[in-house]
Amino acid sequence: MNDNNLNPIEISPNIYFIGVFDPDIRTFDIIMKTANGSSYNAYLIKTKEGVIIVDTVKLEFQELFFKKIEKLCSYDEIKYVICHHLEPDHAGAIPQLMQKATNAKVLISPQATAMLKAITHKDNIDFETVWTNKSLKLGDKTIQFLTTPYLHWPETMSSYIQEDKLLFSGDVFGSHYCDKRLFDDVVGDFFYSFKYYYDHIMRPFKSYALNAIRLYEKFEIDIIATLHGPILRDNPKRYIDYYKKWSQNNYKLIANGKKTVSIFYLTSYKNTKDMAEAIYEGAESVEGIIANVYDLASIDESNMITILEESDGILIGTPTINADAPKPVWDLLSCMMLLEKKGKVAASFGSYGWSGEAIDMIIHRLKSLNFRIPPNESIKIKLIPTKEELHDCFDFAVEFCEIVNGKMVEMTMN
Ligand code: FEO
Repeated sequence: MNDNNLNPIEISPNIYFIGVFDPDIRTFDIIMKTANGSSYNAYLIKTKEGVIIVDTVKLEFQELFFKKIEKLCSYDEIKYVICHHLEPDHAGAIPQLMQKATNAKVLISPQATAMLKAITHKDNIDFETVWTNKSLKLGDKTIQFLTTPYLHWPETMSSYIQEDKLLFSGDVFGSHYCDKRLFDDVVGDFFYSFKYYYDHIMRPFKSYALNAIRLYEKFEIDIIATLHGPILRDNPKRYIDYYKKWSQNNYKLIANGKKTVSIFYLTSYKNTKDMAEAIYEGAESVEGIIANVYDLASIDESNMITILEESDGILIGTPTINADAPKPVWDLLSCMMLLEKKGKVAASFGSYGWSGEAIDMIIHRLKSLNFRIPPNESIKIKLIPTKEELHDCFDFAVEFCEIVNGKMVEMTMN
């Protein structure tokens, strides 16, 4: 299937889509399935004083991208190349574009400086850094830059064209959804992809998404030009509202201001389960804490992520089998890449037969994920817990929950 043709599509007066469709891609960034492909959106703005290129495409599609540019202008006319995001799916054609467009200056966020050098392997690239409150006026277009980091890399930014009420949102509001009809009001139903994309790309950076939305909401927006999937022009505010809703921690609305502590465990001979129950009792005894216990042998991954997201404190209990934690524990730890961990406290516990390495492995992983780890980072019990040891579990939970509640102690972070 070839969804690409050479005709640039005008999305607003003198603003053209010059991106490419990739209908055959089936996996994106290793973790995402792309059942009907994706697109790498890029744009060209024509003014009487020169041309601005907005982002580029994946390297393997650059010849098509250049042909589209050549249909609209000569390379000498290009005055600026705005790069909202330097991940290779958008930055692949930058090195060659800069060789062709010798009059052009690259505009990037300050955080993108080292990346630009790493992509081009040149020290003499003409570039300038831009951020919120900086703007560019060229001909009849005024572009206001917006600092929107971590959406989806540290260097990402957005921009807004005042005259067109057009937001270049970068990866934000994207979908891995390939449809050459291009606009949201004429493509097929891409909502599943819009949500899936949010869950995998934006969800780990919810607080940054809310910061970006605060910036976007200052503007009247008629059209959102994303870096992937449909361009959003049919009531674009609703897409902003979806992001806002998904990025707010809705559970907190029903937790009555209490902190949530989630206790996950896996058990072979009930010993780690007994520890989990004692830990639960200890947690529940602390004022201002709501505790819940989950058996990892019977929990669905999508529920896991939701629970983790809503938790202020996370305790993970595991037996040690063959010097390792069993797979359901690693499944829990691996899905943490999809959630925002900022401020969350975590620790581990477990019963063991020989040496209990799994508990330390969990702590190591939690540290590398940047959880806040209390000084008393784990509790291990050999085989069947005694009454006294269960009491130690209770005390361990109390101390953990006091820290979740804000007690000041020196925390370990990676
Ligand atoms: Fe579409 Fe984060 O790149």
